[in-house]
Amino acid sequence: MGDPTLIIGNWKANKTEEEAVVWFDSFRDQLASLSDEWGNKQAVICPTYPLIPTLNKIVSEKEIPITIGAQDISEFGQGAYTGEVPSIVLQRQITFCIIGHSERRKYFNETDEILEKKVVAASLVSTPVFCVQSENTKIPESVRFVAFEPIEAIGTGKADTPEDGEKVAVAIKEKNKNVISVLYGGSVTSKNVSDFTKMPNISGVLVGGASLDPIEFASIIKQC
Ligand code: PGA
Repeated sequence: MGDPTLIIGNWKANKTEEEAVVWFDSFRDQLASLSDEWGNKQAVICPTYPLIPTLNKIVSEKEIPITIGAQDISEFGQGAYTGEVPSIVLQRQITFCIIGHSERRKYFNETDEILEKKVVAASLVSTPVFCVQSENTKIPESVRFVAFEPIEAIGTGKADTPEDGEKVAVAIKEKNKNVISVLYGGSVTSKNVSDFTKMPNISGVLVGGASLDPIEFASIIKQC
């Protein structure tokens, strides 16, 4: 078997703790129908920071085959950086860490220089998944996992074509020799996911809106 297909749900700034608990209960109800489909797939949910310990506890106690990731990380270590969450706080809490999402670049002015530092910080405690908006986005050298997320496809219901996703994935791997895995993100649903994951160079998906619904997320896992 090759590398698992990776399905990462990015909850962004959504869900209270109560809502998250309900989500996992409902996702758990879907597991029976998923057991044959799980095969070579790895699913991750990236909630807001305060939910990370709670959700780790839930997945471990209820034996739910999802791991927990983060949506961002501080470029700094521990110290006088008000409002930041340094890598050490996330130690043993996260499997993957999304870095450089276009919303972070847009609303929080994250530059190539900052993102390079964030990749270093995230690598101390997880596998960074570096988001790029095109094949020309600068990717730090150590990065192995990339998510191609064309801005016009994010949250619009207008996914890119799988052919374009494949073309960009190939170009990213050609230009960045350490990249082993390229995910596609942008309006992924259970209806279009397999069109992307069947492409030879697309190793999984980064799912925003559709990951907020546990039944739809389970269906995405099933279909990909
Ligand atoms: P979307 O978001 O699935 O809601 O388009 C994707 C993302 O921003 O990662």
